[in-house]
Amino acid sequence: MRVPITAGNWKMYKTVGEASAFAEALLNDSASLAEVELIVCPPFTSLPALSKIFEGTPVVLGAQNMHWETEGAYTGEISARMLKEVGCGYVILGHSERRHIFRETSEEVGKKVETAFGNDLIPILCVGETIEEREQGNTESVVHEQLAKGIEGVDSNNAVKLVIAYEPVWAIGTGKAATPNDASDVIAFIRNLYADRFGKPVSESVRILYGGSVKTNNVYEFVKDESIDGTLVGGASLDPASFLQIAGETRRVYS
Ligand code: 13P
Repeated sequence: MRVPITAGNWKMYKTVGEASAFAEALLNDSASLAEVELIVCPPFTSLPALSKIFEGTPVVLGAQNMHWETEGAYTGEISARMLKEVGCGYVILGHSERRHIFRETSEEVGKKVETAFGNDLIPILCVGETIEEREQGNTESVVHEQLAKGIEGVDSNNAVKLVIAYEPVWAIGTGKAATPNDASDVIAFIRNLYADRFGKPVSESVRILYGGSVKTNNVYEFVKDESIDGTLVGGASLDPASFLQIAGETRRVYS
């Protein structure tokens, strides 16, 4: 069985003090969520503090980005080794805000994925089309390009560990989530591409999440679909009660 994930991407929100308060509140309440893997991805500055607070708990830390080189003259960048050192298990790569605001290319994302695995971090590889691409009927070709280049350097040992997040750009932060059917169709397409590259058993083990305006009141509709293995949540992950409720709705499907 694929263990479902509830992952929170905090983006550029919360100071260290605010992040620590969130973490304490989360732990006060999270006892019954054993069947769901909880991943919290705060800004870089909060990683060391949260790593201490989450130590010995099932909550796993993730970062939101990293560079593809292990070290070097890259002002303002963070390496996989640095993330590993402060307790990260995961790293979000290729988020649409990185691709569209910071012009990251799929080739760069692919290099990052390879480096993450090389440093024992699990990438959460994000893919998804813009509204124009969807309206022009290009969803599959866009997702194909992002996925193929993103996993170009992944070997079959690591393929099963990767987490993929389908996040249509038009659904992110807009309050207009995709329909569960639309998400399920694209996720099936992703799983088929994965099967072509790594074989069916691997494609049936890899976890694929949906992200984009996931809230407490719509998450169940996504996670009850067998093909959707959890969610990557932005805005609704910033409040501990709402984040836990999303994880609770996810757990409900599996219990
Ligand atoms: P929202 O949940 O705020 O739409 O953000 C989704 C997202 O970008 C998660 O990575």
